Amino acid sequence: MRKPLVAGNWKMNSPDESCTKLLQKMLEKTHVIESMLKTMPNAEVDIALFPPSVYLKDTQEILSGSNLQWGSQNVSAYNEGAYTGEISAAMIKSFGCTYVLIGHSERRCLYEKLELDQHILDKIVAEKYCRSVKNGLTPIICIGESSDDYTSGKTEEIIARLLDILIEERGVKELAKTVLAYEPVWAIGTGESATPEWAQEVHSFIRQRIAKHDPETAESIRILYGGSVKEGNAPAIFAGPDVDGGLIGGASLDVEEFIHICFAAALKTG
Ligand code: 13P
Repeated sequence: MRKPLVAGNWKMNSPDESCTKLLQKMLEKTHVIESMLKTMPNAEVDIALFPPSVYLKDTQEILSGSNLQWGSQNVSAYNEGAYTGEISAAMIKSFGCTYVLIGHSERRCLYEKLELDQHILDKIVAEKYCRSVKNGLTPIICIGESSDDYTSGKTEEIIARLLDILIEERGVKELAKTVLAYEPVWAIGTGESATPEWAQEVHSFIRQRIAKHDPETAESIRILYGGSVKEGNAPAIFAGPDVDGGLIGGASLDVEEFIHICFAAALKTG
């Protein structure tokens, strides 16, 4: 059984209270969830937070020694050099990060404005993936279709294209060192999540595509769903057998709501 993961992507939001206060509150609440989980022998969940990068040092100081993990919202495709504003995988690792988000659609849009074609964008994602794994980080690689692609039935094509590039780049076994996140662009920040049936269907497609290369990797890799996950819809979405947790945006800024979502994921194994 795969251990569920719930990742909170704070994006560039400034919570009402400071980031450090939010981190403290999260920490306090996870103690609550841990004691609740102790009463359910098999229930378990990994929880990771993705604050803006300037708070990674605070995050390391506050969360070190706890069961909470953390990561960066982006990573450079390069090791070092004249890349103003970028952060390397080694720098991210030095702040105690376990994870890094790669290929989030909100970052892809920036490149799309430069009119790079999708294949080149997927290649950049693959380079970031290589760089992260080499530096001991676990990439959470985001995949998802736009609203237009969804309505014209191109979801599988778009997902298959990136998966094939990732597998080509480092082989299928290396993919086991990553987490995938299916985030339909039309569901991000819209309040309109994918239905549990649709999420499960796409997750199953992803797993089957990997299984064609290596059934063991397909069985072990965690696939998260992201896009308007809230306390109310999390249990139904997470019930899908191929849904291993969530990548949460807006709702991760509300400690109570986020903890309920984490609990819903933990119940998958409980
Ligand atoms: P929302 O949960 O706000 O829709 O954001 C999802 C997301 O983009 C997580 O990376």
